[in-house]
Amino acid sequence: MSHLPPQTKTLGPCGPLRGTITVPGDKSISHRSLMLSALAVGESRVEGLLEGEDVLATAAAMRAMGAEIQRGADGIWRIHGVGVGGLRQPDTALEMGNSGTSTRLLMGLVASHAITATFTGDASLSGRPMGRVIEPLSAMGAAITASLGGRLPLMLRGLCPAVPITYTLPVASAQVKSAILLAGLNTPGITTVIEPVATRDHSERMLAGFGADLSVEQGPEGRIIQIRGEAELRPQQIVVPGDPSSAAFWLVAASVVPDSDILVANVGLNPTRTGVIAALRLMGADITEENARVVGGEPVADLRVRHATLRAIEVPTELTPSMIDEYPVLFVAAAFAEGRTVARGAHELRVKESDRIAAMRAALELCGVVCEEFEDGLAITGTGGAPIAGGATIASLLDHRIAMSLSVAALHARRPITIDDAAPVATSYPGFYASLDRLAADTAEQAA
Ligand code: S3P
Repeated sequence: MSHLPPQTKTLGPCGPLRGTITVPGDKSISHRSLMLSALAVGESRVEGLLEGEDVLATAAAMRAMGAEIQRGADGIWRIHGVGVGGLRQPDTALEMGNSGTSTRLLMGLVASHAITATFTGDASLSGRPMGRVIEPLSAMGAAITASLGGRLPLMLRGLCPAVPITYTLPVASAQVKSAILLAGLNTPGITTVIEPVATRDHSERMLAGFGADLSVEQGPEGRIIQIRGEAELRPQQIVVPGDPSSAAFWLVAASVVPDSDILVANVGLNPTRTGVIAALRLMGADITEENARVVGGEPVADLRVRHATLRAIEVPTELTPSMIDEYPVLFVAAAFAEGRTVARGAHELRVKESDRIAAMRAALELCGVVCEEFEDGLAITGTGGAPIAGGATIASLLDHRIAMSLSVAALHARRPITIDDAAPVATSYPGFYASLDRLAADTAEQAA
């Protein structure tokens, strides 16, 4: 996050990765569990919450707007909500750090309350487009004054009662969908979102779980999601499954480092999130699901992944929404595959925590990988399994996933790779490097 001092990190090639990794709680589900618990009447409990900077920014904002949120010594978070419509005016600006999800979803929540909130963020977040939420929330009655180009810092004055809308998403974005549904929660009547391309559905699942009156059906133009406002939410006991986006780093690491064999425990396998597993399997990755179960209304399994020879693919564009956060690490997998992998149709990567197309091209090229950049993707020529050259210092650009992806690449490089700033990893995966160290230690133990 913006206040953390930069942390240079150098990683070198490693031996086989063997052992078990437990990934932290899902980021998307963690944000939503805090927000909805803060709107329920009574005490909700959340187990397995991701305690990363992004989610902590959401917790701080919900506290600032009146919710009581505490973490017990048992690691369980207890939240006393204020009731739908009960948020209060925050005394100071809401500091969103690096978190686009916190910002866009909370803008939705504030939009239908009679309160005014200022949203600020770090340099990465302040460069990201908010017009996509400003437009529908303004149509619902919110008055929003943003910085040039519809960016942060911005001030949002909500309207209560807000106006229900029917809105077709112009970009495939779960954040925009969720912002409108959350605004609709305190809006009289029915708010409708139509998504031509299905995106992650954690908001729909969790809103229904909290007792909101929500329906989803398939129409000619796409998924139609309707929420009836002014509902009462019932407190819940939530168990957050492990984040498949965090698991993806290990899936690629074990696939590319020879002789690796690791078990990634407790991975959420919501079908709107598993595109990267499908893409890796198309490339020949050896990933099997064990102990399939349902946790907190979401499918979960342990994933066993063993080293495999990867081959290049043309990444099917229908997988794009379900692997939008995993492209950086998929590009790393492509760097070790046999042949030229082409990923197109992913223009959204340009407006993530960094421009991930440009950032990954620059980083991989510095490490000796041949890339071609398109407006909406990358083509990458892989080594066929041999180590990449490495020996470079790459810029993480305040983007956790760039830092972690290049850390994975370093594990099978001829020379070490330095990440200029690995501090952003704490936004989504604070234990990433500790897990990597432990995996290396476990492996050394097994070999002894
Ligand atoms: C998220 C949605 C996605 C994703 C982000 C989390 C969410 O963003 O990239 O990391 O929790 O709703 P978009 O809605 O911009 O695609």
